[in-house]
Amino acid sequence: MGRLSGKIAIITGAAKGLGEADARIFAREGATVILTDVDRENGERVAQEIGDAASFVELDVRSEDAWQQLISDVVDNHGGLHILVNNAGVVEAGNIETQTLKDYQFVMDVSAQGTFLGCKYAIPAMKRSGSGSIINMASIASVQGESYVAAYSAAKGAVESLTRSVAAHFALNKMPLRCNSVHPSGIVTPMVMSMPEKMIESGLISLDDSNQASGVSKLGEPDDIANTVLFLASDEAKFINGAAIRVDNGMSIVTGIVPE
Ligand SMILES: NC(=O)c1ccc[n+]([C@@H]2O[C@H](COP(=O)([O-])OP(=O)(O)OC[C@H]3O[C@@H](n4cnc5c(N)ncnc54)[C@H](O)[C@@H]3O)[C@@H](O)[C@H]2O)c1
Repeated sequence: MGRLSGKIAIITGAAKGLGEADARIFAREGATVILTDVDRENGERVAQEIGDAASFVELDVRSEDAWQQLISDVVDNHGGLHILVNNAGVVEAGNIETQTLKDYQFVMDVSAQGTFLGCKYAIPAMKRSGSGSIINMASIASVQGESYVAAYSAAKGAVESLTRSVAAHFALNKMPLRCNSVHPSGIVTPMVMSMPEKMIESGLISLDDSNQASGVSKLGEPDDIANTVLFLASDEAKFINGAAIRVDNGMSIVTGIVPE
């Protein structure tokens, strides 16, 4: 028996990076996994590689109509919903002086609004299914000052606070549901690998700085996060609600950079 046997799970932003790792590990542990993303090509490929336990549905997490349709289709096609991973997110490099309102709105719309809509529309289906676990992907950007990603920090702060509000709603109303946030540091994914280029483009660092900086901080692997998400999704975490779990190799609690 897998740790998620019999569970039906939706993962957003599952075409690559951390969402892809979640999808692969969830399927291995017995879940039926609905991968969603705006990147149809990679999403369909990953679902196909996983096999019968997985399917792909195109979803832009910013769209309220699309969320309502997705939840309704998942319940009709699979009979319920037990797990939602609000993983989709975007980053733009820039500090409070350089970032534009457009940058801010883009990043907030995907991470903060997307997570709000996901929670809102998953909850009725989870209640009908008799149990539920929502995992919201935040970041250590919500717990420490990251000057070079101002909008991203705001969005992840919103995700962390919303998680606690949703968790309190479940507890106060004695619902058999849980909501927790996960806060990674740098993990090797397309998002993180694109950061040096974005920082050069935005004028925050020079090419020389980026060459010097590369490799001094220890990066994690997608499975370091996926194993934590798996635990929170499973019934093993049945007494954990409203937690903000840092998965960062201590990076957010030390001064300076954690050496390799
Ligand atoms: N990788 C890290 O080190 C790290 C650290 C902290 C937090 N996070 C968070 O973890 C999550 C996953 O990060 P990642 O590194 O795998 O990123 P990634 O860029 O590698 O993958 C993100 C996925 O989200 C999808 N996406 C983007 N906009 C979307 C939208 N509007 N609707 C649906 N899908 C959309 C992308 O197509 C992509 O497949 C993000 O929320 C990110 O902020 C990552």
